[in-house]
Amino acid sequence: MKSSLLASSLMTSFALVACASTTSTPAPTTATVSERLLNITKLTGNATAGKTVYETSSSPSCASCHKSDGTGSGADGLFPELAEPSKNDPVDELAGYILNGVAGKKAQMPKQSSLSDQQVADVVAYMKQAFGK
Ligand code: HEC
Repeated sequence: MKSSLLASSLMTSFALVACASTTSTPAPTTATVSERLLNITKLTGNATAGKTVYETSSSPSCASCHKSDGTGSGADGLFPELAEPSKNDPVDELAGYILNGVAGKKAQMPKQSSLSDQQVADVVAYMKQAFGK
């Protein structure tokens, strides 16, 4: 009796943990990329939150290829420097690289479409603030 009570309270805490983790993950979106881009341009990006996205979110992170300071890595611009596009490219173009990925000459940037629209707006705001000077 005692052990089945313990078992059921353990089950309850597992269920609670499972619920907590699903609520913190952004809901998968059924919107098309062009609908998402339109929405992203209407959002206000938060550069501080965007720094966290840039450095930690998705796997691998933006920083693991483009470096924390945005100077890029790999020989011959394999993973490119982000200063010039951050400065010159409009928000929807930068967001498009993130949602679609980029087929580079030497390497492919994987699309980061599991990020929420707000996270994309935030990381674009961060790139413009930190690298686009
Ligand atoms: C696995 C490595 C990798 C990851 C992770 C990655 N990128 Fe890239 N990124 C690339 C490659 C490769 C290219 C294309 C290079 C080329 O054009 O030759 C690229 C291109 C870009 C460009 C366009 C650069 C230009 O010169 O026009 C931007 C902007 C960019 N990435 C931002 C990001 C952001 C923001 C993230 C995170 C949300 C990210 N990248 C994650 C590898 C990566």
